[in-house]
Order: sequence, then C-alpha cells, then structure tokens
Amino acid sequence: MLRSKIGGIGYYVPEKVVTNHDLTKMMDTTDEWVQERTGIVERRYGKKHEETTTTMAARAAEIAIERAGIQKEEVDFIIFATLSPDYYFPGCGVLLQRELGITGNEAGALDIRNQCSGFLYGLSVADQFVRTGMYKNVLLVGAEMHSMGLDFSTRGRNVTVIFGDGAGAVVLQPTEEDNQGILTTCLHSNGAYAEKLAFINPGAHGGYHASYQEEEVDYGYPDVEFGEMFITQRMMDEGMLFPYMDGPFVFKMAVQKFPEVIMEALEKAGQKKEDINMFVPHQANLRISQFVQRRLGLRDDQVWNNIQKFGNTTAASIPIALCEAYEAGAIKPGDLVCLAAFGSGFTWGAALLRW
Ligand code: COA
Repeated sequence: MLRSKIGGIGYYVPEKVVTNHDLTKMMDTTDEWVQERTGIVERRYGKKHEETTTTMAARAAEIAIERAGIQKEEVDFIIFATLSPDYYFPGCGVLLQRELGITGNEAGALDIRNQCSGFLYGLSVADQFVRTGMYKNVLLVGAEMHSMGLDFSTRGRNVTVIFGDGAGAVVLQPTEEDNQGILTTCLHSNGAYAEKLAFINPGAHGGYHASYQEEEVDYGYPDVEFGEMFITQRMMDEGMLFPYMDGPFVFKMAVQKFPEVIMEALEKAGQKKEDINMFVPHQANLRISQFVQRRLGLRDDQVWNNIQKFGNTTAASIPIALCEAYEAGAIKPGDLVCLAAFGSGFTWGAALLRW
C-alpha cells in the first residue's frame, strides 16, 4: 500500500531573541504574567528589511530537501501555509519557488490559509497527492513573520506576547514500507466563530455585516467610496490593522477540540492513546498542551513543547517542534507520532504517522 512519509525535515528561527522583559519596555506587561498564563519566556523576531516569511521558509526548506536526499529541482509540488505572507497576493508558494532558485521546473505551488492548523491541512493535502502517485516530492512549509504586524502598545498585549517568527518544512515522499508513513489525518472547521481570532483589516469585506455573525464587529468604516475601502484612515488612526483575539474563548474551544480530534484520529487509524510514542501539539499555549497531555495520559517525555523558547509560531509551530524532537533523537523509526492543532477559523485537525 502506497503511503506518504516525511522524507526530510528542517526548521529555521531568526537569531534575534526577544524576552518577556524586552516586551515590558514597550507595553504594560510582566514576565510573570506571560510565563504564568502561556509558558512563554522568549520568542524570535526576524531581521527587519532582510528576512521575510519566504526567506525563513527557504532556509527551513533547504534543510528538509537535503535530508530528503533530493535536489531542489526535484521538488514537484510546493504547499505553503502562513497567515503572514510577504504580499497580499501572490502567495508565498511562488515566492519560495523563486527564493529556492527552482522556477525553471515550473512545479505547482499552493498557498494554505488555515492559520494554526495550516501545517496539518497542508500535510493532509500533500498526503493525498503522494498516495495517489501524482507527486513524489512534495515540499510543505509553514512559516510566519508575525513581528511585522503586531500591536506593540498595551492595547495589543494579550495577542502580541504570544507570537513569534520562524519556519518549518518537510518533504513528503512515497513509501511502501508496512510500518511507516502517515496513517491518517482529520480536519475540521467551524466558521461561526471566525471573528474570535482574526485579522480582518485590510480586507475586501467593505464593512459588510453578516447577519449570522454572533456579535457586532466594528470593521472600521466611516462613509467611504469604492477605491478607499481597503484601508481607511480610521483603521490607521484607531489601530484597527492588528490581529484580534478573544483569548478566554479560544482557550475554552481549544481544550475541547484538541482531545476530540485526537481521539477521532486514533479511532480512524485503529490505535489507542496508550500507543502514542510522541505527541507534538501546535504550540498555542503551554497550558493548553499540558491540559491535552493530561487527557491523553502521556508522560512529559512523550510530549514535545518548545513554546517557552519560540512562542506561538502558528503554521510553523508543528514542523519546528517535530524537527527539534527528531534532531534530539526523541522520535525513533516505527514510533507512533501524533500531531494536532487548533486555531483561527476556527479550524483544527490531527494527524497520526509512523516515523
Ligand atoms: N500582560 C499583562 N496583563 C495582560 C496581558 C499581558 N500581556 N494580556 C492581557 N492582560 C490582562 C487583561 O487585560 C485582563 O485584565 P483585567 O482582568 O484587568 O481585564 C487580565 O490580564 C486577564 O485577561 P484574560 O484575557 O482573561 O487572561 P487569560 O487568563 O485568559 O489569558 C491568554 C490570556 C491570551 C493567555 C489566554 O486566554 C490564552 O492563551 N488563550 C488562548 C490563546 C491561544 O491559544 N491563541 C492561539 C490560538 S492558536
């Protein structure tokens, strides 16, 4: 039976370390508050004017490609998950192709907009391509340059302290080995809560208020004409060009959906929670990961957390953590690895794979 396996994996985080103490110089927060609520001690920020989501992705991709034992030109499809793309359009997939210097092979490039679960959605798509025999070397990247678009005033503190920059990449390849590869992926979404964790401006919504939205959303529109609707003066004046998060609500949903989707994946793959050797959760918040760990009955050495060092890197967080675990020798061939994520959308998912 043809499956897809992770043939190569790599990650890149920028050099610049930003501690909680550094943030206290810009906003009203404390190291104690951030550590106690999120587990985060520090995060990395990309270098202004030098690094972008795409350049960080390329550094991670180069490592993954080398470890997969192929030449860059042999990548036959690119999937790029990010919520902080270099451009509004085109997406980062084609920019990565250019950054890697492989425009010549004209491989397809697909961008995924599923925020924290973007890597898992990408993994599922890549898996289908490889299983069906359509592609042999699919490059999947999750990368974020959050630092470019955060509100560093006290107004944005609940969001800003959480996020960090970085990139992770894998190359998915076919395998016919019995005990290897992606066993299953489960994907879900619920758009009823789209604005609970969102970056709505700039956008093409035009101030439209959908009647099915649970609560009134202030889109930042005075009376403006077509052509002036994408970014309004009020959005700029009132700091409406930043992400918004209803933290407690997101927390509540996350601790419900993480275990639910993991149990679904285990059942689908005919496995039990006791069979999991390594759990690599999306690094949303250490408290969320610890809650899920307890629900699964896993020991500390069966869960890989690195949010303490890198913060929440959204689409990049799972591949960075998975790569770290792999490099540390914490995942061995034949191990059952469980990946899971929950985030904006809401979208969430889980994957089970044999390393
Ligand atoms: N520093 C200090 N105080 C802060 C702060 C910060 N960085 N951010 C918020 N606060 C304050 C709030 O203003 C509030 O003050 P008040 O009680 O005087 O109004 C107080 O801390 C509590 O805020 P609340 O939002 O209820 O805190 P919380 O315990 O829910 O923790 C999060 C906030 C964001 C850490 C938490 O809700 C969370 O992690 N949610 C999930 C987020 C997540 O995972 N997002 C990514 C999705 S993938």
